[in-house]
Formats: sequence, C-alpha cells, structure tokens
Amino acid sequence: MNQDSIVSTETKLGEPGPSRKVFIKTYGCQMNVYDSGRMSEALAGEGYVATEDMQEADLVLLNTCHIREKAAEKVYSALGRLRDMKNERQAEGREFMIGVTGCVAQAEGEEIIRRVPSVDVVIGPQTYHRLPEALKRARSGRSVVDTEYAVEDKFEHLPDQSRAVSARRNVTAFLTVQEGCDKFCTFCVVPYTRGSEISRPIEQIVREAEKLVSAGVRELTLLGQNVNAWHAEGENGERLGLGDLLYRLSEIPALKRLRYTTSHPRDMDDRLIEAHRDLDMLMPYLHLPVQSGSDRILKAMNRRHKAADYIALVERIRAARPDIALSGDFIVGFPGETEEDFQATLRLVETVGYAQAFSFKYSSRPGTPGADMPDHVPDEVKAERLARLQELLLSQQHAFARSCVGKTIDLLLEKPGRLPGQLIGRSPWLQSVNVDAKDVEIGDTIRVRITGTGPNSLFAEVA
Ligand code: SAH
Ligand code: SF4
Ligand code: F3S
Repeated sequence: MNQDSIVSTETKLGEPGPSRKVFIKTYGCQMNVYDSGRMSEALAGEGYVATEDMQEADLVLLNTCHIREKAAEKVYSALGRLRDMKNERQAEGREFMIGVTGCVAQAEGEEIIRRVPSVDVVIGPQTYHRLPEALKRARSGRSVVDTEYAVEDKFEHLPDQSRAVSARRNVTAFLTVQEGCDKFCTFCVVPYTRGSEISRPIEQIVREAEKLVSAGVRELTLLGQNVNAWHAEGENGERLGLGDLLYRLSEIPALKRLRYTTSHPRDMDDRLIEAHRDLDMLMPYLHLPVQSGSDRILKAMNRRHKAADYIALVERIRAARPDIALSGDFIVGFPGETEEDFQATLRLVETVGYAQAFSFKYSSRPGTPGADMPDHVPDEVKAERLARLQELLLSQQHAFARSCVGKTIDLLLEKPGRLPGQLIGRSPWLQSVNVDAKDVEIGDTIRVRITGTGPNSLFAEVA
C-alpha cells in the first residue's frame, strides 16, 4: 500500500447536525483514508457529525500509521497536545474524548494508555465496528483497548460510505477489497498490524461499488495492502483473482474508471495482465513496488523474486498495455546494503523508467526480522543514497510529464480549480490536470490536450 502517499487528511462530512462533533486525523496509507470514512459513518449513526476544526470537536480520533519510526512518533506528539486540550475542556466541564485507531493502536495497544492515560479508546483496524460501543464504555470512566482480531466481519457491521460520498459529491472513491498481508517482508510491520490476509467476498464488493456509483462516484480505486492477492471462489468452484473482479466491476453502468493499489510483483497473474489489455476503463497506471534492484537485498527482504523477474514482468505488462505508466516504492539502506547493491537499484530504475515513485530510508521496526539483522547502514549513508535515488526518480518523473505535453487525453473532472472557470481532474496516469472549460460539470469526462507542465500538475485545453 502506497503509504508514500503519506496522506494527512481531515475527514469531512459537512452536514449540520446534533450535539457531538468528531474530528478524524488520518495518517498513513489509502486504507486508513478509507477506514476513516467508514468510522465516520459508524459514528454518524451515534449522532456524531464530522468537523474539520479540531477546536470544536468533542471526540478526536487519530487514525495512525506504524510503517516507519517517524510515522509512529508523530502520534505521541499529537497525543501530548490532545491531553492538554482535554485538561482544559474538563476544567470547563465539557466532554472531550481521545481515540487512537489504526496501525499504532494495533501495535502498541495498552502501551498507549500507559504513556498517555488521557486516551479513552484504542481500537485496532479489525474492530472498527465496535468503536461506538467502546466509546459508550469509555464514557463511564475506564479507557477501552480493543485490538483483538475480530471473528465477525467488520465490513458487514459498518455502515457503508455512500451517504458521506454523496454529501461531499465525490467523483472518486476508495474501496478496500483485501486486507492484511501474509508475505512477511523482513522490513515491514503490516503483517503484524493488519493481520493475515483476507479477501472480501465478491458480492459484498460489487454491492458497495454499485452504491458508490449511485451516489455519484465515477472512478473507483480498489485497495489492499496486497490488492492483487485478492481472490474468491467462483460459482463453479473456480478461483477468481483481481483480474476477474475488475472485469466484473467494469460492467457497472456509469462507472468510468478503475484503479487498484498496492500490488506485489509476485501476485501479478495472467488474468490481471489481460484485464490491462482488455479494459479501457482500467487506467494505464500501475503501482508495483520493487524496493531494491539487488538480488542479495531482495532475498534478505524476503521479497521472493529477483530483479530480472521484475523487469521481465514489467515487459509483459507493457506488451499488454503499451501506454501503462509505472510507479514504485524503494527502500535504501536495508541492513547489509552495500554501495554495489545500491548501484543495482539505480540500474533497475534506469531500466524500468518510472512515471512516479516513492523512496524511503530504511527504518528499523521492532519485532520485524530486519531489526535483528547485522550491518545496519549508518544514517548519513542512507541519506546520501536516498538523495541520489530521488534525483534519478525525479528526473524520470519530469521526463514523463514532459512526454505527455501535446497528447490528447480523457480527463475526469473532480473538483473546481483555484481560478474561476478552472477545473481539476486526473489524467489516466494519475497526474493532476488543470483545464479551463465551460458548460461542463464535476464528474464529466472531457477530451483535453495537454499544453504544459507545472511543478506538481499539468495544464490542458479543451480539445
Ligand atoms: N504492500 C506493499 C507495501 C506496503 S508499505 C508492497 O509490498 O510493496 C508501503 C511502502 O513503505 C513499502 O513499499 C516500502 O517501500 C515502505 N516501507 C515499509 N516498511 C518500511 C521500513 N521499515 N522502512 C522504510 N520504508 C518502509
Ligand atoms: Fe509489507 Fe511486504 Fe506485505 Fe507489502 S508485501 S505489506 S511490504 S509485508
Ligand atoms: Fe497503512 Fe501505515 Fe498501517 S501504511 S497499513 S497505515 S502501517
């Protein structure tokens, strides 16, 4: 999952309403963004209205990320500020509750309450449907920690997000189809924080997708920590994979675009590659992290493929869908990484050519095998390698953006731009595009010609 994207979004629900207000701060990957939406809906059932202003909130939820040390540290500094807010509120005799959800909640559990006793609830990602109940119990005075792996299916017990989506008039939405991970890459906390891999049933996904489309959504991004490991059993007992799910969803009338993230190279099967060949509405953009270009490091990371396998896979995908743009994640300075290993990563990047990429210094995570490996790389070496890698990746990203100039593309309009008459949409390759257009509405797809590039977006005119 592309936590690169390390988003930090405040959930908006924006409806006038009753007494209590909730502010949700989302850290980490898109799965957390999706979960925040679902929690927001669950709380709406309890009379909570979402607010974007923390000052007016009666409940603040931090939906947290544990992927790197820095991400986890942010939570404790935020909690320090919330504790002070709670003390002030209590002095005024007003309720103020603090909840920690997400991957830090799962990883640290009780420890959070020990360090910050003002926290009222700590809820792991598998038990969000129990959040309203936990808040009720916490109101009677005792902090509640719920990080069990629930036996019941939380998705069946959570209200869906179509109401919020329609209130916000969203054109795009995330839909989690798969959760957890059984791959155990040696650097990664996800198998511990999100648990083992589960796939949501196909009917449940199709139902949710149809509801979202009825609520106005035109582009769906299917999510999973290992989204292309999604599988189900078909009517005749056959194994269905993510490719089959995409074909099924492509039949939903009014849905215009499909995307999915994040994929593991080992789970890119033939059917999924065929879907890229056959489905125009499956956008030609694929986030396919490789982490390293060195076979020695890939082995130590337990990625279970070689650099050459990845390159061959990219070639097969490009043969099926020549205009596909690749995106990736990279880790520099994994324990034992030599300059030679790092050079292999640079070579792989040169060979593949990325339209977009996210790169990180290795962060040692307690409890993962990587943490106990010998030969940790000094921070200054990691920093220096990261700078070199990012320079190369950025030059590829700019080259890709420049190569788009002059192309005519379909643009799905997502929101108004900053200037009057201006609209913002996304290109098939996930770039943000500004266009001046008349007599069009958000949610329309229009033909535009790319005219230029900005620092983080493209400019276009109606074709
Ligand atoms: N499931 C995805 C990755 C999910 S985590 C995959 O297998 O590729 C998102 C990204 O965070 C990873 O791709 C990796 O590049 C980065 N990451 C994960 N653990 C990390 C760590 N300990 N230190 C630095 N980066 C890490
Ligand atoms: Fe983490 Fe590896 Fe699973 Fe991705 S595949 S979530 S990197 S353990
Ligand atoms: Fe996502 Fe961070 Fe958890 S990347 S799965 S929120 S550790």
